[in-house]
Amino acid sequence: LLSSVALAPRDPILGLNEAFAADPRPDKVNLGVGVYRDAQGRLPLLRSVREAEQRLVGEAQPRGYLPIDGLAAYDKAVQALLFGEQAAVLAAGRVVTAQSVGGTSALKIGADFLKRTLPAARVAISDPSWENHRAIFESAGFEVGVYPYYDAATHGVNFAGMLDGLRALHVGDIVVLHACCHNPTGVDLDGAQWAQVIEVLRERELVPFLDMAYQGFGEGNEGDAAVVRMFADSGLAVFVANSFSKSFSLYGERVGALSVVTADADEAERVRSQLKRVIRADYSNPPTHGAMLVSTVLNTPELRALWEEDLGDMRDRIRSMRRGLVARIAAHGDPRDFSFIVRQRGMFSYSGLNAEQVERLREEFGIYAVSSGRICVAALNDANLDAVATAIAAVSA
Ligand code: LMR
Repeated sequence: LLSSVALAPRDPILGLNEAFAADPRPDKVNLGVGVYRDAQGRLPLLRSVREAEQRLVGEAQPRGYLPIDGLAAYDKAVQALLFGEQAAVLAAGRVVTAQSVGGTSALKIGADFLKRTLPAARVAISDPSWENHRAIFESAGFEVGVYPYYDAATHGVNFAGMLDGLRALHVGDIVVLHACCHNPTGVDLDGAQWAQVIEVLRERELVPFLDMAYQGFGEGNEGDAAVVRMFADSGLAVFVANSFSKSFSLYGERVGALSVVTADADEAERVRSQLKRVIRADYSNPPTHGAMLVSTVLNTPELRALWEEDLGDMRDRIRSMRRGLVARIAAHGDPRDFSFIVRQRGMFSYSGLNAEQVERLREEFGIYAVSSGRICVAALNDANLDAVATAIAAVSA
């Protein structure tokens, strides 16, 4: 039975963690996975999370099953964060939110639901996109293609190409979009460009599926949510997968949610009933702890203020590492202009390094990056910055 099973390749991102762990070099640096580390290179436990955890331990509640669509207080807090406390779509009962097992399962629940609802649709992801987008939608049974996105020559968006690519899709196709801090490029659309994208989606009757894994890392919670709110106000049916892995530094708790903006409250309830069927057959109902932590922080004003402060500090530190990296590479006498790294947003930089150069980084310098050239700027600190800049200058010379 199992003798014919082929060995699957390592995951392009999480597989790097395995290789990194096995590397004995003491000065190795992991710029692969999208994980924020503090100025000392440690994975932070945010003050708000620690405090929420202590309160929860103090209350020591038993753990029954959560509802299939998750903790109600959590789902409500997610809606306010994404759509705004006073959002018309929320007041009208048009948004369905289901707690999920990280952002990945939010995407998968949405994908499984869409496959049942629109079986003939195809899915378009950005070129390039997060490595797992293709796998998730393919595993739901979709054919997955790409629309143009990144322009390597300008280190920006090939916006005309993107619009043409979207216009070429079939009516009813699903379009996966990064709401902010595009993974892997770090290059986002501006507000006017988003408005044009929405118009094309409307004209072509395409279905937007927003991935929001980095809310707060671009312009802050409110600024980054502006894109979600534009879509919510567009009148289109909109899917939003969000994650608190990064913004709460709760990677292993797997805390995310899927929200769907529907036409009216009746449609919302029907969609909810179908999402619950998908979830029930997948993992039955979500885990308690992470959602309790996030909802405690979001629903307790003083903890929320602490969280916003910590999130702002993470955002600022990443920006300063971007500036530091550009300055150090230049200090190595590299005549090329790396200033695009400062303009990129979020945890990642599409460094422009090719797979061969990334391999040299690993082999010769113990620096791990994704083979696409994506580096996690959020893992840089004053102690490793110089080594990373030296290595990048060396392999790209
Ligand atoms: C990443 O892109 O590195 C993160 O989203 C982690 C993951 O699951 O791939």
